[in-house]
Amino acid sequence: MAQDTQALNQATNLFGDQQELWLFGYGSLIFKVDFPYLQSRPATIYNWTRRFWQGSHDHRGTPSAPGRVATLVEQPGATCTGMAYLVTPDVFEHLDHREKNGYLRFTTAMHFDDGSTADGLVYIATEENAAFLGPASELEIAHHIANSKGPSGPNDEYLLRLADALKELNADDPHVYEIAKHLRSYQK
Ligand code: SIN
Repeated sequence: MAQDTQALNQATNLFGDQQELWLFGYGSLIFKVDFPYLQSRPATIYNWTRRFWQGSHDHRGTPSAPGRVATLVEQPGATCTGMAYLVTPDVFEHLDHREKNGYLRFTTAMHFDDGSTADGLVYIATEENAAFLGPASELEIAHHIANSKGPSGPNDEYLLRLADALKELNADDPHVYEIAKHLRSYQK
């Protein structure tokens, strides 16, 4: 049974009285931007790494056959490049629904290319959530992704669109690129 984190997120007020705030996206929030924003900028966060360790029951898989999607895992010294969006607090009603399968909102320090920093909200599916699948080799993950699909489409589309977007950002992400390499080899 998937953990619905929507109510937990809505009960947590991380906004204060801010009229505008930053959101940090590192997975589908980079390539599927179905919410309004005032500004977007590439950003990097430190000590977190992107991993396809989260199960997807509602977007790229089903409860009986979950897909694999991205979450963040703490790793001292790691960096994770993604996209920061300046948004108004009302977008979180939609985003909390979209990210309801195990993702909780946290605050993180984001670093921009010009050396400036800002705090941003980030959705993280921690290992406590019921849909968490955990580690596997990149080859196993590619095989799993190649065989999964859900209401939002095939699981390989998620990974390959993310890999393409990360290349555009010049992001260093051997985990994602290796899974993408395996998936592309299946398509030949
Ligand atoms: C994110 O993209 O920042 C969160 C995970 C996802 O929706 O793929």
